[in-house]
Amino acid sequence: MKVAPSILSADFAHLAKAIKQCESGLADYVHVDVMDGHFVPVITIGPDVVRDLKKRTDIPLDVHLMIEEPDKYIDDFIAAGSNIVTVHVEACVHLQRTVSYIRSKGVKAGVSLNPATPLNTIQHVLNDVDLILIMSVNPGFGGQQFIPDALHKISQADILLKNNGNREAVEIEVDGGIKLNNAKEVLDAGADVLVAGSAIFGTNDPAQTVKLFKQIHN
Ligand code: DX5
Ligand code: ZN
Repeated sequence: MKVAPSILSADFAHLAKAIKQCESGLADYVHVDVMDGHFVPVITIGPDVVRDLKKRTDIPLDVHLMIEEPDKYIDDFIAAGSNIVTVHVEACVHLQRTVSYIRSKGVKAGVSLNPATPLNTIQHVLNDVDLILIMSVNPGFGGQQFIPDALHKISQADILLKNNGNREAVEIEVDGGIKLNNAKEVLDAGADVLVAGSAIFGTNDPAQTVKLFKQIHN
């Protein structure tokens, strides 16, 4: 399993410190939440911050675009050094074109689904993505409660990928409300990558908390 601490819950004036904590805890990805104030109510960070994070770490940057019209900004996020660029199916008019474009630039492509969005909306891109990001909260804020129905969607995604024959090639990532005490059931449902923000950066020792997440096995 992999752990992707979400720096959304870190102190934005001390992101370098958050990156160090991710490194000390041996995090697999740094999860970067990009919000535009339209797709979700909040505004967070843009490509310039991604570029400066990239200078500080070799941990892959897992960039979650919660923005409308992502095609306008994908080049900027790739140029900034994103390793994974994830777009929301709800924000993409031509999803297959968008994820194929990301891949054509040598970057991993992810597709994310809001809690209300059925899995069959991504059926046609299973061979065009490296990661499926299942939202277990309505995106926009850290510190929300895990929506239990996500477990069903995770296991359905696992089955879908197995049936499609590319389970090994595509990671299932889950984002929202993941804590040390529910991480195991998320992994048991079929997740490969756990995103956690408040459960990591809301603790006194984020690096140690990343290590505790890494010890959880399904
Ligand atoms: C939510 C973001 C998440 C957020 C998760 O819209 O996409 O990545 O940081 O925060 P927690 O783990 O606190 O629910
Ligand atoms: Zn996220």
